[in-house]
Amino acid sequence: MPASAGHRPSIHDVARLSGVSLGTVSNVLNNPERVKPLTLAKVTKAIDELGFVRNDAARQLKAGRSRTIGLIVPDITNPFFGELARGAEQAGENAGYAVMLGSTSHDGDREGNFFSLFEQQRVSGIVASPLEEVTATIVSLRARGTQTVMVDRKADPTICCSVSMDDIAGGKLATEHLISLGRTKIAFVGGPMEYQQVIDRLAGAKEVVRRNPKATFRQIKTTSLTVVAGREVGLAILKEAPERRPDAIFAANDLLALGLLQAFMFQSKIRVPEDIAVIGYDDIDFAESAIVPLTSVRQPAHLLGATAVEMLIDEAENAAKHKHRQITFQPELVVRASTILKT
Ligand code: RIB
Repeated sequence: MPASAGHRPSIHDVARLSGVSLGTVSNVLNNPERVKPLTLAKVTKAIDELGFVRNDAARQLKAGRSRTIGLIVPDITNPFFGELARGAEQAGENAGYAVMLGSTSHDGDREGNFFSLFEQQRVSGIVASPLEEVTATIVSLRARGTQTVMVDRKADPTICCSVSMDDIAGGKLATEHLISLGRTKIAFVGGPMEYQQVIDRLAGAKEVVRRNPKATFRQIKTTSLTVVAGREVGLAILKEAPERRPDAIFAANDLLALGLLQAFMFQSKIRVPEDIAVIGYDDIDFAESAIVPLTSVRQPAHLLGATAVEMLIDEAENAAKHKHRQITFQPELVVRASTILKT
């Protein structure tokens, strides 16, 4: 007799129908090797007939913490965070944890709600790529027993672990590449300027330009790291007098760079890279298949996500021995046709 509408069969129903004790049903669910084959078959038949589903949430909460990890990112529609989430999920699965995702759409209130939701769900911990400063939130979460790891930005080593990129080095790498091509009118396109990752990439770019007196530099701020924002900047550049336009653009991420390429390639006669060389950041999958394959500064998004989860699980399972670590990966330049003319 399957579960009646609205009534979820319990472990008591299974014991009653199969004529065994609650302990025997528990053994069938958790240690089937301890149960005699005939009894195992009888209880399994009752579970199937009733449509019983074990309540892992209750079992895990009884243990104090669920084997679930909360992951908070600003924008899951961005392939960078999609790949980061895949890495986090893979590392969680390898250790027997589920990963619950919260995508904030760059909204601070939503971000705060996800921190609260995951704490109330008693997750083992939270991996977060926060929009802006969240130290106070992290400190109070940890004081109430929820571990945290920062991903894609550094954390205070006295507070928690973090895994991120050396974005200053990434900004230098991008700009040195453009200058090595003989470009002298460099533009940096990116924002919002509250994002530490954007601030660091810009700082790296400026440092390289300062070392090259022949190069000029201009910053074009955007309110988001999206294709639409990149396309708007591209269209604005097209309206400028040709001599005013940059001959090289460093976009703070690949989506901005793809928007710039759309404006230049679809709306004008601007040639990339002949007239304007374009470099992005992240090296998402679409970079290689772009209308002009995009040169980019690669971030190992999958590895960032996986490493963050591994650090969190280490703290959750080895609290006594755990020491907070700040892992910083070095960026890699991936050169494609948007900066180097294929002869
Ligand atoms: O593309 C998303 C960007 O936001 C990435 O570069 C990541 O580092 C964050 O800055």
